[in-house]
Amino acid sequence: MKHIVVLSGAGISAESGLKTFRDSDGLWEGHDVMEVATPEGFAKNPELVLEFYNQRRRQLKAVEPNSAHFDLASLEQDYKVTIITQNVDDLHERAGSTRVIHLHGELNKAKSVNNEEILSWPNDINIGDICKDGYQIRPHIVWFGEAVPMIDLAVKECETADILIIIGTSMQVYPAAGLMHYVKDKTPIYYIDPNPAHMNAKHVKIIRENGTSGMKTVLETLSLK
Ligand code: APR
Repeated sequence: MKHIVVLSGAGISAESGLKTFRDSDGLWEGHDVMEVATPEGFAKNPELVLEFYNQRRRQLKAVEPNSAHFDLASLEQDYKVTIITQNVDDLHERAGSTRVIHLHGELNKAKSVNNEEILSWPNDINIGDICKDGYQIRPHIVWFGEAVPMIDLAVKECETADILIIIGTSMQVYPAAGLMHYVKDKTPIYYIDPNPAHMNAKHVKIIRENGTSGMKTVLETLSLK
């Protein structure tokens, strides 16, 4: 069975109603990213940061996957599919994808400020919510400047890709943006984005469309193979 690797970003969730980062002129839901997505921001104002992610978690309950998520899940009927996402939402899983690597963490998970034990946490996190060792709980989100523990696994998946689909990412944040360079030389790459970043790689087919229509184009192309 051929192996399709997908690298998705905030753009795939835009049509589900979740804002992207770069399209909101550097703000994330009105907040400076450095205020709400860095360890320094959390140390400076933990209440603000916890409330920010509480709002994101509540918002996630109110939105649904869109057809781009479902089309990617449907590829599992004919391919081994590995989704490597920069998104912290659970829309890929809710659409039925079964192999999802979250490079930047997950909104519905949490961890102690003192250790790496990951906890399922679909509701609000407040000051005073502590882990069994008595330490404050924080969102399981990879903040700017923090390690990306899943990157080695993601690189290994890219090295075994027969096809790479990049969808809805501005390719500005590393190490995620560097993953495309790990695919084998002749691997066909499909890049779906209405405003694609410059791509200096061979075998890239740019599909200048939204995720939902771009995925229809990719499904048609693959069915002709
Ligand atoms: N369909 C597909 N792509 C879209 C759509 C859409 N409907 N709308 C916007 N896009 C594209 C934009 O053109 C842009 O290229 O989605 C991309 C979103 O880029 P970013 O906002 O930079 O999001 P992303 O690439 O996922 O950011 C990576 O940056 O802020 C950090 O950790 C955060 O994971 C995030 C990382």
